[in-house]
Amino acid sequence: MRPVLLLHGPNLNFLGRRDARHYGTITLTELESKARAWGRELGFDVQAFQSNHEGQLIDKVQEAAGWAAGAVVNAGALSHTSYALHDALLDFDKPVVEVHLSNVNEREPWRKISVLRPACAAAVEGRGADGYRNALQALARILAAAPE
Ligand code: DQA
Repeated sequence: MRPVLLLHGPNLNFLGRRDARHYGTITLTELESKARAWGRELGFDVQAFQSNHEGQLIDKVQEAAGWAAGAVVNAGALSHTSYALHDALLDFDKPVVEVHLSNVNEREPWRKISVLRPACAAAVEGRGADGYRNALQALARILAAAPE
């Protein structure tokens, strides 16, 4: 099984208590468990990490460069602001798929921009928890097409 990093940023530890209209009622524990099961179907060993702290997310990306085949990232609001996380994902040098539970294009204007997007091979938005399955499938397709 190929190890894959599943990275969650600020406030995603509060899933289940956040606005259900945008994020549904699933908790982070449930979401990670679903993602691990979907990952297994694709031959991935999904290793999940969440932090509310930008530096800890960057440390995890740097560490994962040593073991992960790729990553699925929902950086929460840091998606819209963190050039530092963007740079860490570039240096990670493995395929990254960005995912958002909500449809960021139909919310506040500032959510339409993801500064991480240029460092990502694909993005999935607005499909709730199922979007993580799509993101893992996209990652599998990208890895299958990439030379070893
Ligand atoms: C989010 C969208 C972000 O704009 C927001 O700040 C989040 C969650 C999503 O999954 O829809 O925290 O990344």
